[in-house]
Amino acid sequence: MLAGIREVLIITTPRDSESYKELIGNGSSIGMNISYEIQVKPEGLAQALILGEKFLGQEKFAMILGDNFFYGAGLPNTLTNAQIFSGAQIFVYEVSNPENYGVLTLSDNGIPKNVIEKPILPQSNLAITGLYFFDQDAISFAKETTPSKRGELEITSVINQYLKQCRLNFTRLSRGVAWLDTGNPNSLHDAASLVKIIEERTGHKIACIEEIAWRNNWISDSQLLEIASSFTISEYGKYLRKLLSYD
Ligand code: G1P
Repeated sequence: MLAGIREVLIITTPRDSESYKELIGNGSSIGMNISYEIQVKPEGLAQALILGEKFLGQEKFAMILGDNFFYGAGLPNTLTNAQIFSGAQIFVYEVSNPENYGVLTLSDNGIPKNVIEKPILPQSNLAITGLYFFDQDAISFAKETTPSKRGELEITSVINQYLKQCRLNFTRLSRGVAWLDTGNPNSLHDAASLVKIIEERTGHKIACIEEIAWRNNWISDSQLLEIASSFTISEYGKYLRKLLSYD
């Protein structure tokens, strides 16, 4: 939403799909268009590109992993600027444990040299985050991909195709940005703590979708008020109502 994207396809398991639909619906209440697709088995991120083919049409698109958390000043600008690309645009971040991620290594003159999924001996500390911008070729690259040792169609295989064609661009997320993984209980707890601390200190919510939609002018004051009323007397509803009296 902060990148100005209003059309979203959520790809998830048969079980979780129903919960997402119940929680977010078709997005019309926040000025968005949200649709759903099911991935029957966890057969890899690149499979999402194939599943999304019909939805994607002929446009460039962004793909983001549901367990990745991004937070930091300047992020909306970074995302907006990064949308001017040809081929693929990935976002990398310095981490202390690159072996757990796809890793980008650069040549001496700063050009992408290789991309390796979970290298045993990483040649760099630049982890590839779960946010990707691709052009249409990503879908055909995904179709050419064969399953890795872990039985998945790896997104790094798709990225490697762009690298081979010298069409891989990257943006380094600065140290002022927090990129967290929330895929296991410990990392989810870390992310929740960060959100709690910042929200309590500042009084602003992180990733409050109704607020973002309203600040983006995708919904009006009265629409926001209507949503706030649907939360009755909860803290969340009070927060939304407060936005209208402050601004
Ligand atoms: C996936 C990608 C990996 C990327 C990571 C980011 O890993 O395969 O390249 O660095 O997401 O979260 P996975 O979560 O499937 O292990």
